[in-house]
This record gives sequence, structure tokens and C-alpha cells, in this order.
Amino acid sequence: MGSEPRLLVVDDDALIRDELEGLFASQPYEVDCVESVGAAMERLTAAEFSLALVDVRIGGKDGIELTQQIRERWPEVDVIMITGHGSIENAVEAMRRGAVDYITKPFQAEEILMATEKALERRQMLDEIEYLRRQLQDRYSFANMVSRNPEMLEVFSTLEMLARNDVTVLITGESGTGKELAARAIHYQGKRKAARFVAINCAALPENLLESELFGYERGAFTGAVTDRVGKIEHADGGTLFLDEVETISPAMQAKLLRVLEERAIERLGGNQRIEVDMRVVSATNEDLEALVRDGRMREDFYYRINVVPVHLPPLRERVEDISLLVSEFLRNNPLAREKSLNRLSEKALNQLVAYEWPGNIRELSNVMERAILRAKGDTIREVDVPTGKSGDRNAGPKLTYDMPLREYIKGAEREYLSRLLTKHQGSISPCAKHASVDQATLHRKIKAHGLRANDFRQNGRNGEGR
Ligand SMILES: Nc1ncnc2c1ncn2[C@@H]1O[C@H](COP(=O)(O)OP(=O)(O)OP(=O)(O)O)[C@@H](O)[C@H]1O
Ligand SMILES: [Mg+2]
Repeated sequence: MGSEPRLLVVDDDALIRDELEGLFASQPYEVDCVESVGAAMERLTAAEFSLALVDVRIGGKDGIELTQQIRERWPEVDVIMITGHGSIENAVEAMRRGAVDYITKPFQAEEILMATEKALERRQMLDEIEYLRRQLQDRYSFANMVSRNPEMLEVFSTLEMLARNDVTVLITGESGTGKELAARAIHYQGKRKAARFVAINCAALPENLLESELFGYERGAFTGAVTDRVGKIEHADGGTLFLDEVETISPAMQAKLLRVLEERAIERLGGNQRIEVDMRVVSATNEDLEALVRDGRMREDFYYRINVVPVHLPPLRERVEDISLLVSEFLRNNPLAREKSLNRLSEKALNQLVAYEWPGNIRELSNVMERAILRAKGDTIREVDVPTGKSGDRNAGPKLTYDMPLREYIKGAEREYLSRLLTKHQGSISPCAKHASVDQATLHRKIKAHGLRANDFRQNGRNGEGR
């Protein structure tokens, strides 16, 4: 649709058409005027309109009939009915058949403008709501990522927004939480997807190699440089440069990269030609970069340059609700599992997965599942092989098993949920209540009922934040 809303006036009275045309010409609208139902249908087919103003009688034809047809065939076009003085029945009938408003003749200019503006505003609001609703619908997955954890769903919306905007992103999260997957999602869902996604693992190369890898070189730049070589940064032109494990870059290299980020241009090693690069930069780290800045291991200017928009991926142990979802996803995508028609997990196996802490997060879960798929017989994974011992939760209640009565199981699950929640928010009730979508009083009551105490979770924080 064009920038200005397009209106269609349908009236067989030339005086009214002229009047409305003149009136709307002074407004930020585009307006087409037609004198017959046939011409109206033709215009509606040919162009996109936001609103039609339809007279109740058009050259012997029924404007109310036309209103209904418009609403059926072009539901995005709203209709305001123009009725004769005193014909309230017509107005009511028009509304019943889908008009948003009506105006009676003779009308004031002011009246027409108000009704038009109101209808357009309402339409815009409906469009926004529809847009948000559609977004919510697909939110259990984004690109190749799946989750039903509220914090991750926020992450999905952020990634979606970032894909559409060309800003620099820093993705943080423990090992195996999906940082690279998120970086790829930003690239492949965005307008740079036709160009390259160039990933560089900064930890994998010693400094001098990293430099030539990133910047490229010209023949004779150093011993062994027998031909010219295009660097990764140049390769990323038009696309995305992904700096993985960015914390391992030395301060000297950070300074060189900082210049690239600021100038959006490089020189190859041994070269003196300035080469412009148009790229988006996404970095990833599993370290606390602010702490590195404080320790002088990361330049503050570099940090600010790469951390324009931060995205944090929570560890798997803080989103246990994702475990079964991820497992189904793995089973669906694993060729061997498909071949074996493996599609189920026993209660015991699920319990094992949920009880484990997952220091290696989703990557570790994926490895555990691969081993289990290999060993499984029949259509069910009965047991998984996870390191045992480290449950470590002093608030853990009795172990949940399906031998328990339902009521006891649910009680146990609720207790576990609450203690995880309290751990996560360090005993702070308000964020816990928000997270759980219950009011604070309910949460207090439940915590008490389970013999838990919010205070017990308070001194646990590793840092003294808020003190
Ligand atoms: N939300 C998710 N849904 C489905 N699969 C996921 C999700 N997150 C991660 N994975 C899978 O988990 C594995 C690890 O993801 P990825 O390599 O992106 O993690 P990472 O954070 O970059 O890890 P590291 O810090 O070790 O480099 C990959 O196989 C990825 O496909
Ligand atoms: Mg990675």
C-alpha cells in the first residue's frame, strides 16, 4: 500500500463527488471518485484502497448491496455509508452488512473528515493487533530454534526484530545454548540472507593467523604470502560477519577490529588500498565481557562497539519446560530415529533428562539423545545415559516418579517449579510472580504451603547486587 491511504468515493451525484474530491484533496489522502457500481468494482480490483464512501443509491443500484460485496471480496477495505436524511433504517442495515460508519446527507465537511479519520485509525489498530497475533502464533519456533520458555519467546521476538534491522548484536549465553543458531537466524531471516554468513571462531587461531584470516593479504606481505588472499571480512561484504568467542581476541586485535567497525573499510595486510565493506557484525561469547573490561582484558570502546544490542540465551536448566520439546525436535530431525520410527520417550528417561543440570546445555542434550537413539530398541527411548550424582539442590523434595499418585506428583512438580523460580530470581517475589503469571499473594501462599522460604534464596547470589 502507498504511504497515503487511498479512498474510493462511489456516488452517482456529480455534485457530491466534486465536493468530496475537493475536501479530500486538502488532506493526506489519495482519492478516486466513481459514479457507478461497475466502475467501483473495477477500481477496487485495480488498486488497493483503505476505505470506500458509498452512497446508499447509485444510479438505481443498491449501495448497501455494494457495501456487502466490498466487505466480502476486499475485507481490508472499510466502508462508510452515505445515506439520505432521516433514513435511519438504511444506516442500520448498512452497518449490519459490514459498514463501519454512516453519514447522513446533507453533511458537514467536518463530519466526513472525522468519520474517515476514525475509520482509518481503527483499521490501523486492527492491523497492528493482527500482526502481533500472527507473531504470537509462530512464536514457539523461530528459524530453527524451538522453545516455549517465556524468556526464550522474548528472545525470538528480539531476533525477529534484529533480523529486520541492521544493528550490531552481541549474543551471550553458556556453551551450547544456541548462540550460533541465533546468529544464523538473524542473518537468514533478514535482508542480507542472499549474501554470506561468515563465521570466524576467534579462539581457534593464534593472533597472527587470525589477522590474516580476517583481513586477507597481498602477495609478499610476509614470508609465505605467495598469492593475494581475500580475508573473511571482505567475504562478508553484503552479509554478516559472525565473531564467535569474541572474548579471546587480544586487545591489540580489538583495536584493529574497532577501526574496521568504525570505518566500515579494511586494508589487506601488505596492501595500501582501502576496501569498503558493508556488513552486519554479530558477536558471541560465553563470558561476562563487562568483567573482562573491568580487568583490562577487553577494550571498553571495542566492547561498546560490538554490544549495541545484547541478546542473552538462558541455560537449559532454567528452561526445563523445553526439554521435551527439544527431544521431539531431535527425534523428528534425526535420520536414524526416523528410520527406527523412534518417537517416544519413557517416563523414566524424561525424568532423567529433567533432573540433570545440563552444563553443556542443548548441545549436550543433543549428544545424549544421539547416543540414546543409537541404542534404542522399538519405538521408545526407555533410558538415557546422563551423568548422575550432581542434583545438588538442597531444596529438592522427593524424586518425582510416575509410581506416585497424581496429586503427590503434581505437588512435587509444583515444589520443584517454585524452588527453581526462586533460585532464578534470588528469592525476589515480584519477578517470580510475573514469571509464573500468578499474583504475589498466590505465590506467597504456595511458597509457604511447600515449606519453602523466599529468604533462603536471597543470600545465594554470587555478586552483591542490590546491596
Ligand atoms: N532453541 C533451540 N532449538 C533447537 N536446537 C537448538 C536450540 N538451541 C540450540 N540448538 C542446537 O544445539 C546445538 C548447540 O547450538 P549452538 O552451536 O548454536 O550453541 P553455542 O551457544 O554456539 O555453543 P558454544 O558456546 O559451545 O559455541 C546445535 O546443534 C543447535 O542446533
Ligand atoms: Mg558456538
